[in-house]
Amino acid sequence: VNSMERTGTATAHTNIALIKYWGKKDEALRLPFTDSISLTLADFYTTTEVTVLDSALPKRFTMNGSPVQGKAADRVWQYIARLQQRFGVRGSLAITTENHVPTSAGLASSSSAFAALAGAFAAAYGLQVDMQELSRMARLGSGSASRSVYGGFARWIAGSDDATSVAVPIDEHPSFALRMIAVQIDVKPKAISSTAGMRRVVETSPYFPVWVEHNVDACERMQQAIADSDFTTLGELAQQNALDMHALNLTARPGFTYFEPQTLQVLQAVDQLRQEGVECYYTMDAGPNVKVLVQPEHEAAVLERLAVVVPDATMLSTGVGPGITMSANGV
Ligand code: PMV
Repeated sequence: VNSMERTGTATAHTNIALIKYWGKKDEALRLPFTDSISLTLADFYTTTEVTVLDSALPKRFTMNGSPVQGKAADRVWQYIARLQQRFGVRGSLAITTENHVPTSAGLASSSSAFAALAGAFAAAYGLQVDMQELSRMARLGSGSASRSVYGGFARWIAGSDDATSVAVPIDEHPSFALRMIAVQIDVKPKAISSTAGMRRVVETSPYFPVWVEHNVDACERMQQAIADSDFTTLGELAQQNALDMHALNLTARPGFTYFEPQTLQVLQAVDQLRQEGVECYYTMDAGPNVKVLVQPEHEAAVLERLAVVVPDATMLSTGVGPGITMSANGV
């Protein structure tokens, strides 16, 4: 072991946006047009270890035991170069990531991945960063990652520049029990990345300004629903916001959608369940998979119905997750 080596480790959980971030005002800095609000999840997380090596040694990046190359690796190394420049630090890095986000969950892992990487980087270099700075660092890797430094509910404040665009906690330990069921419909890599989808609506949809204006109000109401532990309002707002985002995609030029036929079957089943008195709501991100929000007493009924409606889909349920944890050991 080289005497200069120092290792930092961080674990961060994925989050699901209840009020979505969908549109960048500044792509390079990842500044969003609007605030967004999310729930951090319990069972889907990333643990990343960063070791600072002598600059003469080659850099390494492995994920779940395999070396990573190509586009995914380029994005990570560009991100690392940016952080090194920002903090005036140097060295070659060995990055080891364990992604505990099953592909079958249909959940994006970039939120937990970049939050964990930012945390491990800070720990490896012994940087004195507070939670807001950590959120800012994570944001530079992936917008949604800014919110994954916190547990429970978090709000990413859009801000107007790098310093002010940062997530803050709303309620890290919510008092009401909330469950989320991830319904995986398709694991094909998506044809339109979140970056490309956002760019297209920003540049071409005549409805984009309406989305922006409306989200300001949606965030205020969601924050109130969380403060009131009001599941009905939270669910209604989350479901409508997801519909707004996916409707916006249809209004781009050319219009596009992430929906697959089975997506609609799940959405209809959720609405039907609610009419029958099983209170549940859906939300969706940049893909065909559906996430269902439900309180524990109705979870089994939702799982049972969806198993009939989409028998081939994988379903995983989880609860509210914690914020980032970090540690360092210099050797
Ligand atoms: O930060 P990204 O590139 O993972 O984009 C996230 C976009 C959505 O998941 C659709 C919404 C959100 O706020 O997380």
